[in-house]
Amino acid sequence: MASDDHDHRRHHNNHRHHFDLNENGDTTTTNNHHVQPNKKPKLSLISDADLRSEFAHHDSSVARINNGSFGSCPASIIAAQQQWQLKFLQQPDDFYFNKLKPSILKTRTLIKDLINADDVEEVSIVDNATTAAAIVLQQTSWAFAEGKFDAGDTAVMLHYAYGAVKKSVQAYVTRAGGRVIEVQLPFPVNSNDEIICEFRKALEKGKSDGHKVRLAVIDHITSMPCVVIPVKELVKICRDEGVDQIFVDAAHSIGSTEVDMKEIGADFYTSNLHKWFFCPPSVAFLYCRKSDKALALHHPVVSHEYGNGLAIESSWIGTRDYSAQLVVPEVVEFLDRFEGGIEGIRKRNHEKVVEMGEMLAKAWGTNLGSPPEMCSSMVMVGLPACFGISSDLDALKFRTHLRDCFGVEVPIYYRAPKDGEVNPITGYARISHQVYNIIDDYYKFRDAVNNLVNNGVTCASLSD
Ligand SMILES: Cc1ncc(COP(=O)(O)O)c(C=O)c1O
Repeated sequence: MASDDHDHRRHHNNHRHHFDLNENGDTTTTNNHHVQPNKKPKLSLISDADLRSEFAHHDSSVARINNGSFGSCPASIIAAQQQWQLKFLQQPDDFYFNKLKPSILKTRTLIKDLINADDVEEVSIVDNATTAAAIVLQQTSWAFAEGKFDAGDTAVMLHYAYGAVKKSVQAYVTRAGGRVIEVQLPFPVNSNDEIICEFRKALEKGKSDGHKVRLAVIDHITSMPCVVIPVKELVKICRDEGVDQIFVDAAHSIGSTEVDMKEIGADFYTSNLHKWFFCPPSVAFLYCRKSDKALALHHPVVSHEYGNGLAIESSWIGTRDYSAQLVVPEVVEFLDRFEGGIEGIRKRNHEKVVEMGEMLAKAWGTNLGSPPEMCSSMVMVGLPACFGISSDLDALKFRTHLRDCFGVEVPIYYRAPKDGEVNPITGYARISHQVYNIIDDYYKFRDAVNNLVNNGVTCASLSD
């Protein structure tokens, strides 16, 4: 990092010492004995050199085109996080009694504004999307146990729901007596209508035999294969059909697609902040629309705040490192250093990843997995059929080979061929684009694949 940046950050952190919070989480600065509501120096746009230094800790031998899996965190945010960790270690009791709650409230307030929620009470900060799913599904399980839902009532979720969330549905819903129906989605996919049509079919099936659809779990952006789901339309269908609870797993959404709670209208919505929002691992928000349903939610890790509302319960789940939850104000400043802020970043990432996906598909004679408007900052690109990827294990082997032999980090998806398909594409790469990526990352991937094709390498020839 450039030394003048260091100076700036130091100055900035000193400045932050003087922030106070009123009850609503609004900031006032008490620097130099003045009270200046919401006045902060405007930061200049980030230069190319500063951008490079913000991500200089990335392994430079690797073309990292997989922001989707674990996200990324700039150096200035890591530094801010370390300041929070030190603050705790310096005087833990003062931190616990005086700093932690108001600081989490500040994070919640910033997120509330970003996602257009009605009230800060609707926003809880949790570890990750997996925890958010457990919070929601635990409550579904109690509804079965307490007789609000009947055995055989249904939960509908996408076939491409994230594996860990599927396990959670199994643990909390199936085990409680619920029936789970998966929406079978096509891939490659060509239009929202294909998804909407399959979703309606699953709801119909869920209502058969006089049962009710109690819960819909809908991804905003599926993980593998990645597709932006028409979530607003699906939520509306659920409302029209009387589905009791709608949970949107939007682990990838904030920073890579539009996130507006009033527009989407779900009961529960979670997004990680460590994927596309530059927070360190790990932190997510869970939005719960104000209603009786929200009152039934509890954090699965029960501590002193049990019964004080999910947001407060979540703000103390025992002694641990809360620092990742506290850097959101610094992240918001970081985002403002880019042209157009968070919206500008996501627009440019989308345009770039589509351009790179099309470049790769052209080089390999393949296709994208969905039209550009169904992609966010990630795109599925078909791999040459000659690799003979024919199982999930093959896909993993191929990914490992790209990492170990070519320094390319990219997840690979196995797509089972349909009956009668001739020379089908059975392997797709999920490429990401984030602000630190450069065109050479994608050329490296293109050339690695071309090298393997030219040398006749297939999955069968790769060692297990
Ligand atoms: C759609 C989806 N849901 C949930 C998760 C889980 O996120 P985490 O591991 O941060 O809890 C992921 C992670 O990639 C995801 O893609």
